Amino acid sequence: MSTPVKLAVIYYSATGTVATIAKEIAEAAEKAGAEVRLRKAAELAPQAAIDSNAAWAANAAATADISVVTPDDMEWADAVIFGSPTRFGNVASQLKQFIDTLGGLWAQGKLADKVYSGFTSTATAHGGQESTLLALYNSVHHFGGIVVAPGYTDPAKFADGNPYGTSHVDAQGNNPVDDTTLNAARVQAERVVKIASGLKVGLAAA
Ligand SMILES: Cc1cc2nc3c(=O)[nH]c(=O)nc-3n(C[C@H](O)[C@H](O)[C@H](O)COP(=O)(O)O)c2cc1C
Repeated sequence: MSTPVKLAVIYYSATGTVATIAKEIAEAAEKAGAEVRLRKAAELAPQAAIDSNAAWAANAAATADISVVTPDDMEWADAVIFGSPTRFGNVASQLKQFIDTLGGLWAQGKLADKVYSGFTSTATAHGGQESTLLALYNSVHHFGGIVVAPGYTDPAKFADGNPYGTSHVDAQGNNPVDDTTLNAARVQAERVVKIASGLKVGLAAA
């Protein structure tokens, strides 16, 4: 029997939307049989900025017990699911800063041959979800990773409508994560575990 897929769910979240999706993905992946590390990117913003936004401060307190990601989590993982809120149509600097610490592992080929996927959140419907996920996936190509996007592989994907990855529109905090987004998160988690499991077995046999 093969060993379980090791999945790292690595995210940044200021006001908690992406954190909520990250937790759902982590739980669904565990239920699907994966060994999961849920990790957050280190905060780069000054404490005064966090304190000036009630939702940001609340999320920082609520996720204080989640470990900050290190490159070891990438080396450990068979599969990685990254999560980032959109920042001007792009990946948040906190998550990008972590990705930019991975040169050493990349140089040793230790980011290659893993499954990668991504999820995101925006304030507005056309605010850059796809551009954020595609920007994230740019780095995966440099890693030699294998992008496993959800596509429309499950009927639930026709409800949330984003084949690039789970995404949510939070309407500046007025639209909390709902069942449509949570369903998409579960579908993505299960698909990543399934494909990563097949890849792991196949690579071990090769
Ligand atoms: C500096 C900054 C830039 C942002 N850029 C965008 C954007 O380009 N499009 C958009 O729809 N929302 C944008 N947002 C809103 C966040 O992406 C959105 O509220 C997201 O759901 C927050 O996720 P979180 O609760 O996990 O932090 C931006 C927010 C900030 C602070």
